[in-house]
Amino acid sequence: MKLAVSSAVLALVPALVAAHADHADALHARHHPLDARQATPSHAASSTTSTPATGAATSAPTGTGTGTPAATATPSFTLLATNPTAVPLSDIVSNQPSSATLPLASTAVPGTTPSNIPGAPPLPNAQILLPSNYPALDVPPPIDSDEVKQWIQEVQNTGVVIPNFAPTNAGGCPNNTAAVADTSRCWWTCGGCTRSTDITECPTPLNWGLTYDDGPSFYTSNLLSYLDQVNLKSTFFVVGSRVISFPATLQTQYLAGHQIAVHTWSHPSLTMLSNEEIIAELGWSKKVIKDVLGVTPNMMRPPFGDIDDRVRAISLAMGLTPVMWTRISPLATYDTDDFNIHGGTTTVQQVLQNWENILGNATTSKTGFIVLEHDLFEQTVEVATGYILPDALAHNPPFTIQPVVSCLKQDMTNAYIETNNNSTNPPAFSAAISGGVVSVTGSAATTTPTSGGSSGSGSGKSSGVSVHVGSGLAALTTFAGALVGGVLSLGL
Ligand SMILES: *[C@@H]1O[C@H](CO)[C@@H](O)[C@H](O)[C@H]1NC(C)=O
Ligand SMILES: *[C@@H]1O[C@H](CO)[C@@H](O)[C@H](O)[C@H]1NC(C)=O
Ligand SMILES: *[C@@H]1O[C@H](CO)[C@@H](O)[C@H](O)[C@H]1NC(C)=O
Ligand SMILES: *[C@@H]1O[C@H](CO)[C@@H](O)[C@H](O)[C@H]1NC(C)=O
Repeated sequence: MKLAVSSAVLALVPALVAAHADHADALHARHHPLDARQATPSHAASSTTSTPATGAATSAPTGTGTGTPAATATPSFTLLATNPTAVPLSDIVSNQPSSATLPLASTAVPGTTPSNIPGAPPLPNAQILLPSNYPALDVPPPIDSDEVKQWIQEVQNTGVVIPNFAPTNAGGCPNNTAAVADTSRCWWTCGGCTRSTDITECPTPLNWGLTYDDGPSFYTSNLLSYLDQVNLKSTFFVVGSRVISFPATLQTQYLAGHQIAVHTWSHPSLTMLSNEEIIAELGWSKKVIKDVLGVTPNMMRPPFGDIDDRVRAISLAMGLTPVMWTRISPLATYDTDDFNIHGGTTTVQQVLQNWENILGNATTSKTGFIVLEHDLFEQTVEVATGYILPDALAHNPPFTIQPVVSCLKQDMTNAYIETNNNSTNPPAFSAAISGGVVSVTGSAATTTPTSGGSSGSGSGKSSGVSVHVGSGLAALTTFAGALVGGVLSLGL
């Protein structure tokens, strides 16, 4: 492993970090060019002409990236504001020593109900969570357990038509030429295809749907403390294996009014898994969150953003709406690349350059936006609390910074399957059927999904095994440019 192994996090989550690292290698071609594209010399050169702003003195790049390969050009950025207690940029490096973490502001009391979710069940007692009742951490769960067999049956009972695509290969887009060419897959990773059910942005300009992935971790408490200080709420896409390790942190996040959403059990690339393995990944993460909070999220983010119509169909049938991060071109997304400071494949200076590019685009965009950041590592939390969030809060015109569900103009009650108002906010699965993103077989169309989808509103739309792909077409043609026409009949 090429990672700088110094942090306590590695001792805790070796498999997750390894999974990311392997993936970064394996998916180099399909993940990294996005970041590389954001850092081309011409962009950096033009940004050096911008006027330095306040905070430039404390935020100036140090250029001392401790063994980190330099980006293609010296990163250049200016910040409107930084946190007076920010860790100096020169200290935010891959091999930095583990820093202290703050205690949680409060300890959740079992039986409490969150004040912002009327009708939520009382908080379970997380002390009695037994890890032995769950699969091994940080590896895809077995598919032959009673639980997974039941979830497979529940997905079948929905009648959802799961497109019959073979799992993708390791090695990224270059090693998947047939899958990339098959635009009917609508594979986000290689080209950026989305469907109408994917949440990719906030509808209102200057609205930022704040998200952090891969926690809860040791450093989540530091992020929570800062968010409390500046009165911000976020969406957290949590990994089931991390919930086993940090149940009290998850309860604190939930009670503090943050949105909790699903980020799988072991953080795999979902398009590489079988249908059953995808169900196991999503099912176990739904279950552990419900066991700790009493409610089940209705949004998910696919690790690495790796989603296609097969993964979409399964997620939607399990009551989970995919949430991506904003993409502005086939090769550029709103990914800060903060994850890679820890492993030494990028620098904090480059991350802040990426952030400045995101800001430059987001400020003039006709819609709001969603950015990829992480609460797993101290480096990612330090760059968020010390630099990115203070800078965003000083932005003029001001941003409205909210959890994703709030930027979609929904109450927090509508972030969870049990409390969602199904008449005013149609659940993921029925919305996907009415939107033509998935279809259900005729015989099952009236079957009530037991895994969180809605029973009612889609039943009239059943149509055998045709898969309608019309709704996502605008996005699809934008990026793939190939597929036109309304309905595909897939070989099933
Ligand atoms: C390409 O895919 C094949 C088939 O899954 C696999 O055996 C091979 O290792 C992959 N190549 C790379 C470079 O990952
Ligand atoms: C928008 O993002 C692209 C890609 O990162 C970047 O090259 C460009 O400079 C950004 N635009 C602004 C106005 O910052
Ligand atoms: C909405 O439907 C789900 C099943 O999909 C159910 O669990 C939930 O309780 C319903 N919401 C309300 C507020 O009744
Ligand atoms: C759903 O929302 C509607 C409109 O606000 C309201 O009348 C209804 O009582 C809500 N249903 C539930 C179960 O809360």
